Amino acid sequence: GRPRDLAGRHVVVSAGGTREAIDPVRFIGNRSSGLQGYALARTAAARGAEVTLVAANVALPDPAGAKVVRVESALELREAVLAAAETADAVVMAAAVADFRPAARSQTKIKKSSAEPDPIHLVKNPDILAELGERKRAALAAAVSSARPHGSRRPPVIVGFAAETDDVLANGRAKLARKGCDLLVVNQVGDGLAFGTPDNAAVVLSAEGGSVEIPRGPKDDVADAVWNLVTPLLS
Ligand code: C5P
Repeated sequence: GRPRDLAGRHVVVSAGGTREAIDPVRFIGNRSSGLQGYALARTAAARGAEVTLVAANVALPDPAGAKVVRVESALELREAVLAAAETADAVVMAAAVADFRPAARSQTKIKKSSAEPDPIHLVKNPDILAELGERKRAALAAAVSSARPHGSRRPPVIVGFAAETDDVLANGRAKLARKGCDLLVVNQVGDGLAFGTPDNAAVVLSAEGGSVEIPRGPKDDVADAVWNLVTPLLS
């Protein structure tokens, strides 16, 4: 059986992959299945947590014990995550969030014509993980200046995910620092792991400088290993 070590805690997990609309029928998307995020939500609930699962375009049954908020785009995912983060003990950003979105969404289906198509102009999406992570520094500064705005609470524990193909540890370290998160779960992409597969493997980097290897195994086991690293960081 699992420990009930998340009883009384509210955890927020994002899962899946965002879709950025081009027109009413087309979007820019990615290959995230949501399996790892759903495993995180399921295992947290089994360990006693109140779970808010922000699911972006996931074709999986709702995990038992989780409150599921369905979103489509990065902007919708941001709204849902930031709202839930206000009362969260931990936020785990397992979703694949699009870095860019079309600057404008055509109200009608873009028609095929003999002419060359118009280019799709992209604009940057906000980085939700970095936005939450930056709040640590903002909160510390505010403790001095007492100028901390409302609605900008930093969750005590913030966990990011990163899929890397090369220089996994160096890239992961840099990303952890850049995003201001407490833990970064780094997946090596390839070797039949990650996207859409039942197994995963990871190295978890901590802001304190440590690293823990999670061996290849079912995504529920990887999820439990992540919670094992989160629980000691909860105040
Ligand atoms: O920079 P990269 O996309 O590799 O970072 C991945 C991590 O950042 C994931 O935890 C993802 O959920 C999060 N992210 C985010 N907002 C974005 C892009 C990524 O929160 N716009």
